[in-house]
Amino acid sequence: MEKRECEFENLEYQRGFGNHFRSEALQGALPNGQNSPLHCPYGLYAEQLSGTAFTTPRKQNFRSWLYRIKPSVGHEPFQLYSSPSLNFAGVIDKDRFLTTPTQLRWKPLECPEHPRDFVHGLFTMCGAGSPFLRHGYMIHIYVANKSMEDCALANADGDFLIVPQQGRLWIKTEFGKLQVCPGEIVVLQLGMRFAIELPDATSRGYILEVFSGHFQLPDLGLIGANGLAEVGEFETPVAWFENKHCEAGFTIFHKFGGQMFSAKQEHSPFNVVAWHGNYAPYKYDLRKFCPVNTVLFDHADPSINTVLTVPSEKPGVAVVDFVVFPPRWSVAEHTFRPPYFHRNCMSEFMGLISGSYEAKAGGFLPGGASLHCCMTPHGVDATTYENTISATSQEPVKVSTNALAFMFESSLTPQVAISAYNSQQRDAEYHQCWSGLNSHFALES
Ligand SMILES: [Fe+2]
Repeated sequence: MEKRECEFENLEYQRGFGNHFRSEALQGALPNGQNSPLHCPYGLYAEQLSGTAFTTPRKQNFRSWLYRIKPSVGHEPFQLYSSPSLNFAGVIDKDRFLTTPTQLRWKPLECPEHPRDFVHGLFTMCGAGSPFLRHGYMIHIYVANKSMEDCALANADGDFLIVPQQGRLWIKTEFGKLQVCPGEIVVLQLGMRFAIELPDATSRGYILEVFSGHFQLPDLGLIGANGLAEVGEFETPVAWFENKHCEAGFTIFHKFGGQMFSAKQEHSPFNVVAWHGNYAPYKYDLRKFCPVNTVLFDHADPSINTVLTVPSEKPGVAVVDFVVFPPRWSVAEHTFRPPYFHRNCMSEFMGLISGSYEAKAGGFLPGGASLHCCMTPHGVDATTYENTISATSQEPVKVSTNALAFMFESSLTPQVAISAYNSQQRDAEYHQCWSGLNSHFALES
């Protein structure tokens, strides 16, 4: 394990977001110019991975060229894969999803008793849209205690934005290796093959799977050129490969149309010796996010904390936003400083990576989750409300000093997976947290 520790702790990364990266694990492995086999050094195969339609305007066009020992097509036919321990739901249907406007909250999912890797540890919470129509999203939680061995997963339905909450992830991809710790996020886009090892035995986290396109950095508008997530803080792996042959075969899991397929091949899927392009996985440390907020009175909307967004065709309306609530100073005067009560035309799924979230005195635990759908009222609990209005200080206060919470916010209203709704982790008493909100109404103030 010590050797592996070294292997993943001291990884190099290329910095930037959507850059055209060039990386080779063997000197001179990138061809000089043409992609023809006649020009590929070391006898490598050239293979393109297209993340957008060929004719997408150049600014939003994502693709990479991979130079590999054998092409990815060298596998047996795909077969539908089924296993009693497979727990994700890939498409919205009435047998597996229900509709409810009720405020929902879950305690953290417990670690499995039996060995379970990332693929078998996916548990679907809610979603909207369809992978067939390439529009919508699904939200999952994963809990796993076993590394993926001699296998890889590729998602042909959408991008995975993974938010580990407990346990590091050692991720092998066709583009290189990444270590992702709680507090960081990783984005593994449509079609990329990857395998996740778990050095800390158990790992839990959240996944936003988006069918509608790829994540972008939000425009900063009047904020200016600085603030929020800095382009240079995103990290993409450098080329790495293994020239491994296994007669028992490597398994390629292929998520397609909301179902899991598998295929066997004799060579490692991680055989890309060099690659170049702007379509590659990346990670980001949420602790590097530079929050911006009101400095005199009242509130900025939570959109001020957007890290990444997948825009819809409507200006200013996201299919999904990924929003973080990091430690920050609260300085507004004559203001109820915690989040306000509200009803939102967007739907909000929240998770907690660590600490205590500022809007809840209890019940919202690290690894847990909440869902407030379109126009469902929500806000701080009664205890937080009473504690806040009884405090007289208007001095600056550091909030969420030990906490890291986030939100997946969508313009598409989700349905809830029945298995998540019926799970023991759902807090059936969640609504009680608002029952103590007494009237403070007085005719004379
Ligand atoms: Fe909200």
